[in-house]
Amino acid sequence: MIHIRRHLVSDIPLRVQWLNNPHVNSYLRDTNECTTIQKEKIWFQNYLKSPHKKFFTIYSYSHPIGFMGLSHITKKSADLFILIGEEKYHGKGLGKKSFQWLLDYGFQKLQLDTLRLCVFQKNIPALHLYTSLGFRITKKTRKEIFMKLDKKDYNGAGGKI
Ligand SMILES: CC(C)(COP(=O)(O)OP(=O)(O)OC[C@H]1O[C@@H](n2cnc3c(N)ncnc32)[C@H](O)[C@@H]1OP(=O)(O)O)[C@@H](O)C(=O)NCCC(=O)NCCS
Repeated sequence: MIHIRRHLVSDIPLRVQWLNNPHVNSYLRDTNECTTIQKEKIWFQNYLKSPHKKFFTIYSYSHPIGFMGLSHITKKSADLFILIGEEKYHGKGLGKKSFQWLLDYGFQKLQLDTLRLCVFQKNIPALHLYTSLGFRITKKTRKEIFMKLDKKDYNGAGGKI
């Protein structure tokens, strides 16, 4: 059972814990640099000022397990991100359920036409997640894959297209 609420300043310690978890962050960035409470406070201050970002905290029952969101939101499109920060919750279908919620939010609530994302080629769980929801590859670099999903190609009920 997942529950989703808007991302709050009080989530900063969890962001730090999740983003610094080596079992979770290995395909998130190229450097081994850790984040800190101070860096996440700055991220949050900028986030609260930005009309182009919307982030959410994901719960499994009463346990916060990760976060996800949209950034670079325009009238037509946005970029997506998801992180299940508690690794014991990986592989249980919660990432997919949460991401479906985020797709519905983008396409139905925000009325966007296109949702995009970027994923490291080695991030097999994330690639499976995105392809299973109908995302198509638009570009590949040596390390990254860029994908998009158009509203017209998403049926809103599990992405079976
Ligand atoms: C990527 C991530 C969100 C997936 O969430 P999850 O809850 O573990 O994934 P789910 O259990 O919902 O599975 C989603 C799909 O991926 C597949 N999958 C999950 N883990 C997998 C693995 N280790 N290997 C292969 N496929 C896998 C599932 O079979 C499922 O596909 P299906 O619906 O066709 O059966 C999660 O692993 C995560 O947060 N990783 C760390 C952060 C990250 O890499 N975020 C993505 C940045 S681009």
